[in-house]
Amino acid sequence: MYGVETFVHPEFQGSGVGGRLMQARADLVRRLNLRGIIAGSLIAGYGAVAEQMTAEQYVQAVVAGARFDPNLSKQLSKGFKVRNLIPQYTDDLRSLNWGVAILWENPDYQPPQPVKTADDILSVDFGAAPPDAGSVSAAGS
Ligand SMILES: CC(C)(COP(=O)(O)OP(=O)(O)OC[C@H]1O[C@@H](n2cnc3c(N)ncnc32)[C@H](O)[C@@H]1OP(=O)(O)O)[C@@H](O)C(=O)NCCC(=O)NCCS
Repeated sequence: MYGVETFVHPEFQGSGVGGRLMQARADLVRRLNLRGIIAGSLIAGYGAVAEQMTAEQYVQAVVAGARFDPNLSKQLSKGFKVRNLIPQYTDDLRSLNWGVAILWENPDYQPPQPVKTADDILSVDFGAAPPDAGSVSAAGS
């Protein structure tokens, strides 16, 4: 599943709504037996400290738990992992347009069983024919 945008009204941010939306997405992915969720995440707190560090250093600090990002930290707390930085992800002053690709892997994912081909079915070994197998056709002919 690809996730583009999650948005909770500012008045209600930090009160558990976003967490429930993230949980609903994970439940849907489990129910549909999908491999996981890949999404883009703004690093909303980066703009405020951009003069002190690169975006990469900022994300490393957020992943290590040394900094709290109002967006990325919440997604990491729900099991997402950072895959890579995305420059020019979107027009957003808070993140100076930076985003990161984040991934959540479904631990319950079951790969589909391979489809049986006609050769697979015809090559099934039914064992040796019983000793009198020929007598039925002999009697019937
Ligand atoms: C990102 C956003 C959707 C999160 O929604 P929210 O309602 O603020 O999130 P919640 O309060 O439910 O927090 C989500 C989880 O983060 C964690 N969390 C929340 N506050 C935290 C804090 N201060 N420190 C550490 N973890 C925290 C919790 O695990 C929480 O889940 P839980 O309540 O089920 O345990 C919301 O802040 C938002 O709309 N931001 C602006 C839009 C945006 O930038 N969207 C992302 C675009 S990619």
